Amino acid sequence: MSKRKRDAGPWYPPEAYGELAEGIQRVLIPADRIQERVLALGREISVDYAGRCPLLIGVLKGVVPFMADLLRAITVPVEVDYMAVASYSAEARNKGMVRLEKDLSLPITGRDVLFVEDIIDTGLTLNYLLRTLRTRDPASLEVCVLFNKEQPRLINIPLKYKGFDVPDLLVVGCGLDFRERYRNLPFVGLLKPEVFQADVED
Ligand code: PRP
Repeated sequence: MSKRKRDAGPWYPPEAYGELAEGIQRVLIPADRIQERVLALGREISVDYAGRCPLLIGVLKGVVPFMADLLRAITVPVEVDYMAVASYSAEARNKGMVRLEKDLSLPITGRDVLFVEDIIDTGLTLNYLLRTLRTRDPASLEVCVLFNKEQPRLINIPLKYKGFDVPDLLVVGCGLDFRERYRNLPFVGLLKPEVFQADVED
């Protein structure tokens, strides 16, 4: 792809995000690379699901920007639904405790389900949700994740579609938050230590 085309993304440059950009130590994955990767994932999914109508399922809230872009990068008919899980403390989560706060509105029995996640960290959330969905007898169940943190993985889950491996650091943007902010950054960046240290001191 030519340099000109690469630069012609719809997003503002990082510095346009003012106070949010000031909290970023460095950009790890620029917006245009993310866009290109999402388009490639959409192409792959469109080929694999040709002649079918997969149901894309996302977990609120971090998945929203990725889901919106992925949906428009898929050229076969798709349907979409969302789940929400309660936020537990890191300690409770490490024990595999996940509580469903919002269930699906569509039945999945006999459906080709593609589970879409913004990030997989320990794998505990996904593991719990996949186990729950399997009991409902989908025709198939695959996983598509944009960002994969390999380091702290407690549970190994086969990922059919993967965007990027990311380091085990506090990364934000593209749906990933710190205290609910930074989700609207179109790139993925490393949060400055002073941002989360200041938060701890508050
Ligand atoms: C993130 C992400 C996954 C989960 C992954 O959600 O969207 O659902 O964490 O972590 P795990 O692999 O360690 O289980 P988060 O709880 O941050 O909520 P959010 O989507 O509302 O930001």
